[in-house]
Amino acid sequence: MRLLNKVALVTGSSLGIGRAIALRFAREGAKVAVIGLEKDMLDEVRDLISGEGGEVMTFESDVQYKIQMESVLDSVIGRWGCLDVVVNNAGICKPTPFLDITEEEWDRHMNINLKATFLVSQLAARQMVRQGRGGSIIQMSSVNGLAAEADQAHYNTTKGGINLLMMSMALELAKDKIRVNSLCPGFIETRLTKPLLDNPQAIGEYLKTIPMQEVGQPEDIANAALYLASDESRYMTGHCMVVDGGQLSRLS
Ligand SMILES: NC(=O)c1ccc[n+]([C@@H]2O[C@H](COP(=O)([O-])OP(=O)(O)OC[C@H]3O[C@@H](n4cnc5c(N)ncnc54)[C@H](O)[C@@H]3O)[C@@H](O)[C@H]2O)c1
Repeated sequence: MRLLNKVALVTGSSLGIGRAIALRFAREGAKVAVIGLEKDMLDEVRDLISGEGGEVMTFESDVQYKIQMESVLDSVIGRWGCLDVVVNNAGICKPTPFLDITEEEWDRHMNINLKATFLVSQLAARQMVRQGRGGSIIQMSSVNGLAAEADQAHYNTTKGGINLLMMSMALELAKDKIRVNSLCPGFIETRLTKPLLDNPQAIGEYLKTIPMQEVGQPEDIANAALYLASDESRYMTGHCMVVDGGQLSRLS
């Protein structure tokens, strides 16, 4: 087991990519704190993990609010005594043409995708520094953090910001043996991408941009997250790991 006796916290893990990461980490021996907004889905993840003999805590909490995240961390430390791995995965994307993005939508994307990543990272890193035995923080960016997609100026900006936050943290926290990396998924089949997946013509066109000609699955990202969380990546920090079926390699 690659995460035996580790304590991991995964935001946005009631659904989609985060859920696949939480399940994968638990199967590799980690105790997992699962955070999300959908109570029924949180219960399902809890039952799945505990049904397989894993240890899990669930939190119906909103990552935007520091007070809620402080309370989550207090509960995790109170019960399991430490924190080794954090995945800042919670995120939203509401495609809108640049000329139509409202201030409210801009702020919502900044708060959930970018500010919350800062808040949870800072709380977690302070705890890891106190523990004195390092840790791994994984930021969920996107291919949209490395190149721009139309109608997603707000989303693209949050994901680019996450990559620079990740590098800044990697620089400052390396001396404490805290590694910080990002994951940059391409198109993954989840609730977030359902509107495009449900439109056969649009998805047909979109697939032409992906050299592997298929959409990725949440488990593809969970496998990469497991590598970044485990000691197998012990010499990696400050890195954006792209998992996109070749999409970013394409010039035309
Ligand atoms: N699906 C993709 O193609 C894709 C590609 C690149 C990056 N990503 C990123 O991966 C992450 C997960 O995306 P997904 O596709 O699994 O999405 P999803 O919609 O399936 O799941 C989102 C998760 O985030 C949680 N969440 C949303 N807002 C929250 C908040 N304010 N507080 C707490 N939890 C909140 C939800 O409860 C849910 O668990 C996001 O950061 C997204 O930007 C997704």
